[in-house]
Amino acid sequence: MKIVVILPTYNERENIVLMVQALQEQFRTIPHDMHILVVDDNSPDGTADAVRAEAPSWENLHLITGTKQGLGAAYIRGMKHAIERLKADAVMEMDADFSHKPEDVPRLIEGLDNGADFVIGSRYVPGGKIPDDWSYLRRMNSKWGNLFARYVAGMYQVRDCTAGFRAIRATIITKIDPETLKVKGYAFQISLLHEAILNHAKVREIPVEFVDRKRGETKLGLSDIVEFMLNAWWIRFERSRTFLKFGAVGAIGVFVNLASFTMLLKLGMNKFLASPLAIEVSIITNFFLNNFWTFSKRDMNDKIHIRGLKFNVVSFVALAVSYSTFLLLSVLDPHGTPQVHQAIGIVPATFVNYFLNSYWTFKE
Ligand code: GDD
Ligand code: MN
Repeated sequence: MKIVVILPTYNERENIVLMVQALQEQFRTIPHDMHILVVDDNSPDGTADAVRAEAPSWENLHLITGTKQGLGAAYIRGMKHAIERLKADAVMEMDADFSHKPEDVPRLIEGLDNGADFVIGSRYVPGGKIPDDWSYLRRMNSKWGNLFARYVAGMYQVRDCTAGFRAIRATIITKIDPETLKVKGYAFQISLLHEAILNHAKVREIPVEFVDRKRGETKLGLSDIVEFMLNAWWIRFERSRTFLKFGAVGAIGVFVNLASFTMLLKLGMNKFLASPLAIEVSIITNFFLNNFWTFSKRDMNDKIHIRGLKFNVVSFVALAVSYSTFLLLSVLDPHGTPQVHQAIGIVPATFVNYFLNSYWTFKE
């Protein structure tokens, strides 16, 4: 494999050359074609010049420069360059300040060799570590960041969602197309991970010890923390959006059902025939709305008429669930209001309906 270690830098003159040398040292033990790509944002301290001075000594050292738009923006440019220009099969994310130990690089790459697509150098799995001397505030900042990512953004299964030390297969990056991500700062890390999970990447956490930088200072600012929290909520919203759309389609279906029922009666049709016809009309409109709106982004295998049939089957199952609930409540609460029982039946029916349509009818 050709693997490109991406090092974003902003004012890392004191670190970058030492970092490049330490990485080259590690590369000798790694059975892959290893490269380094420094992504510098015209650091005023002359980081890029230090890299240029070093470049003639190493064929596998690359540099791109640009204007500072944030850590995420730098990674987006770096990944694009690594995959499109350098033809990388995998990329690594890594800090240039020695917070991530060069000695840990081979272990992360072994994760790829063992079949994972997205390997995280994790501080929060057994064996992983944050510095002992981190202040209470710094610990909380990191803990809360991960709590947000895990429980607000919904990545429960990952312990260290914010880690900036990772090895990722190029196929996953290409599927995600990082340029479509809206975040430009540190929040990029959780957005990328979230998209990888949506794209069925095999995620694996390898314990690492995070060490404090000895030279230079952190670039993480208040605006990064704000963007991070807003982004976690945005991810949650995006996740529930499909369900909300599905619910909206359901509500439209109720109107379609009643309107066509009324129309058929006005045309003089017998009500016992008009009722199932109106139900079917609403099922068909709901199908098209879900097909071309709710689930439109999915890449589905079935032909549209098969999906239409499945949707009808699911509607029938939902009807059975709704009716069983109604019957059950009528038995349990014989003196209750029938309208209430009927309305309660809609709740489990909606979830069954959504679940079956999402994982069967409109399966990817
Ligand atoms: N090109 C570029 N542009 N590089 C940047 C920028 C930017 O806007 N901002 C930061 N960097 C570089 C730094 O020079 C450093 O090499 C690396 O990105 C990480 O920046 P630090 O400022 O050292 O970040 P940190 O130590 O606070 O944050 C680390 O932990 C976070 C939380 O776990 C990083 O690993 C983050 O990726 C991680 O999210
Ligand atoms: Mn750092």
